[in-house]
Amino acid sequence: MNKIALIYGPQGGSTEKVAQLISEEIGEEKIELIPVKELTKEKFESYKKVICGVATIGDDTWDQTFRKDDWSEFFPSILNSDLQHQKIACYGLGDHVTYAAHFVDGLGKLVRLLRDKGATMIGRVPIDEYNYIHSEAIEEGHFIGLPLDEDFESEKTPERVKRWVRQISLEFN
Ligand SMILES: Cc1cc2nc3c(=O)[nH]c(=O)nc-3n(C[C@H](O)[C@H](O)[C@H](O)COP(=O)(O)O)c2cc1C
Repeated sequence: MNKIALIYGPQGGSTEKVAQLISEEIGEEKIELIPVKELTKEKFESYKKVICGVATIGDDTWDQTFRKDDWSEFFPSILNSDLQHQKIACYGLGDHVTYAAHFVDGLGKLVRLLRDKGATMIGRVPIDEYNYIHSEAIEEGHFIGLPLDEDFESEKTPERVKRWVRQISLEFN
C-alpha cells in the first residue's frame, strides 16, 4: 500500500484532533486515517509507512497504562506479526504538569512493542524544549516519538507537528 496509514486511539479527543492535523500537514490524499479500534492485523500489515498516535492514560499506580486503551485491545492480534517491512513513527499525547513523572509513558511503551516486532522506528525528537520530571519515552537523550501536550501547551502543537511531519517525510523516504 503506497499511502501512509495513520492509526490512532483513543477517538474523540486530542489524539484524534492531532491525527487530523498531521493528515492536513502531510496531504489528505497521501494518508489514510484509521482508528485503531477499526483496524485488523491484515490491514495493519499491508502498509509500509505507518504513523501511530496514542494517549497515556495511567491511573494511581500507572502500571495499567494500556488497560483502558484502544491499543491494548489491538495488540494481541499482532503478537505473531513480523513488521520488518514497516517504517513507523509514533506521536503521544500527555500532560507534562499533572503527570510530570510519567510524561507520555504510553508513547515509550507503544514504540518498544512495535520495535520488538521488527519495525524500523523513526521520528525521534530532542528533549530540550520539554519540561517534565521523568518519561519512559526517552532513550539516548531523545523522545522516541513526538510528545504533545494539548492540556497545558496546546499553542505549541501546530509548530511541533509541522516540524515533525517535515522530519518523518524525509525519514520515510
Ligand atoms: C486518568 C488519566 C490519566 C492520565 N495519565 C497520564 C500519564 O500517566 N502521563 C501523561 O503524560 N498524561 C496522562 N494523562 C493525560 C492524557 O494523556 C491527556 O489528557 C491526553 O491528551 C488525552 O488524550 P485524548 O484526549 O485523546 O483522550 C492522563 C489523563 C487522564 C484523564
